[in-house]
Amino acid sequence: MEQEVIKAGIIGSGFAARFHYEALRRVFSTKIEIIGAYSKSPEELIDFTKERGIRIFDSMEQLINECDVLHVCTPPVTHEPIAIAVLKQNKDVIIEKPFTGYFGDGSKDFNGDEFPREIGLKHAVESIQRMLKAEKESKGSIMYAENWVYAPAIQKEREVIEKTGAQILWIQAQQSHSGSHSRDYGKWRLAGGGSLMGKGAHPLSAAIYLKHAEGIARNGSPIHPKTISARVHSITRLPNFQNHGHLKDSYTDIEDYATTHIVFEDGTIADITASELLLGGVKNYIEIHANNHRTVCNITPNNAMQTYNPVEENFKDIYVVEKTGTKQGWSNMSPDEAWFNGYQHEMDAFYKSAASGSPIESNSSLASDVIATIYAAYVSAERKGAETNIIILK
Ligand SMILES: NC(=O)c1ccc[n+]([C@@H]2O[C@H](COP(=O)([O-])OP(=O)(O)OC[C@H]3O[C@@H](n4cnc5c(N)ncnc54)[C@H](O)[C@@H]3O)[C@@H](O)[C@H]2O)c1
Repeated sequence: MEQEVIKAGIIGSGFAARFHYEALRRVFSTKIEIIGAYSKSPEELIDFTKERGIRIFDSMEQLINECDVLHVCTPPVTHEPIAIAVLKQNKDVIIEKPFTGYFGDGSKDFNGDEFPREIGLKHAVESIQRMLKAEKESKGSIMYAENWVYAPAIQKEREVIEKTGAQILWIQAQQSHSGSHSRDYGKWRLAGGGSLMGKGAHPLSAAIYLKHAEGIARNGSPIHPKTISARVHSITRLPNFQNHGHLKDSYTDIEDYATTHIVFEDGTIADITASELLLGGVKNYIEIHANNHRTVCNITPNNAMQTYNPVEENFKDIYVVEKTGTKQGWSNMSPDEAWFNGYQHEMDAFYKSAASGSPIESNSSLASDVIATIYAAYVSAERKGAETNIIILK
């Protein structure tokens, strides 16, 4: 039987749009035709589509009409309206992290330092509820593009947990680097938060995903996060911060460091940190302390390849590893960064599901848990780390 061709459309033409496109070219389970792209940056959109030989759309509605699956590769503030527009047309929607959030009152001078965090939590939960309702009323599904869920190391750990009946007792995880490149990052009204939203969403998603998987394997239902204690800081905005040029410091009203302590429904725990204060490339890891094994997933850096380069200039045309400050000396060069990050694996899983209707590992339930956890963390941080309940939208 001739396999159905699934038509893909990309909304956005920046960093995420580019890696989504590359990942789609490495999907083997399903036949995909990339129809075209739409974005709010006309010149960037021309370059993006021309280089890849795909059509430019000047209307998002038309792109949605012509495709089966739409990729939301736009700033967090736009995720909810775009996702709902796609679901209304009964199409599947792949939503980049973070799923949704609270982006202020819509005014240009909204200051993320000043609003009561309970308000943020209330609005973020309402946004999640609107998205879940749109999904329920649609023939399409939400596919939460959290690549950590599909990173090969994390999928292998899921197998270990499921096949050995492991109980995860304590998780440690982190995403940190020297500062995000997205032009909209650093402003609460566009990003919905700082390090905790932009970076913490990754390790948080992986930790919650693995506790969901553990619960389903042993008892038939996911184990959800229950409470959180958090602290956030804005170190690069301290009056005494001395910038030597290695860290980005253009954040206007967000935190650049966050640490959280989560207690799950079964009393087990996770400690997760996210920051913009780390030199030497991206630190992406999750460590699982279980009752029957211990695993460290080193997503970045890892030692799959280690290279010594005596002269910086020698590597001028060579991509080494994300956000490295120098290519001179020893590097943990990544032979295939997208693979370790799980980018092609998530697309493969989503398109398999679009073609066959099979369930999605990284679904709207996981996405909702992550956002509810993040905004409960902001409430806790406002109370200097007081334990705060997490609202679970089951
Ligand atoms: N999973 C990951 O590893 C990863 C990495 C980077 C970014 N992201 C996520 O991807 C998303 C986009 O980030 P980015 O780095 O690509 O940002 P970017 O600034 O590089 O690109 C954003 C794009 O969205 C377009 N856009 C903005 N508003 C729009 C609207 N209303 N309708 C249509 N297009 C619109 C812009 O024109 C631009 O093309 C964010 O949610 C970010 O958190 C994920």
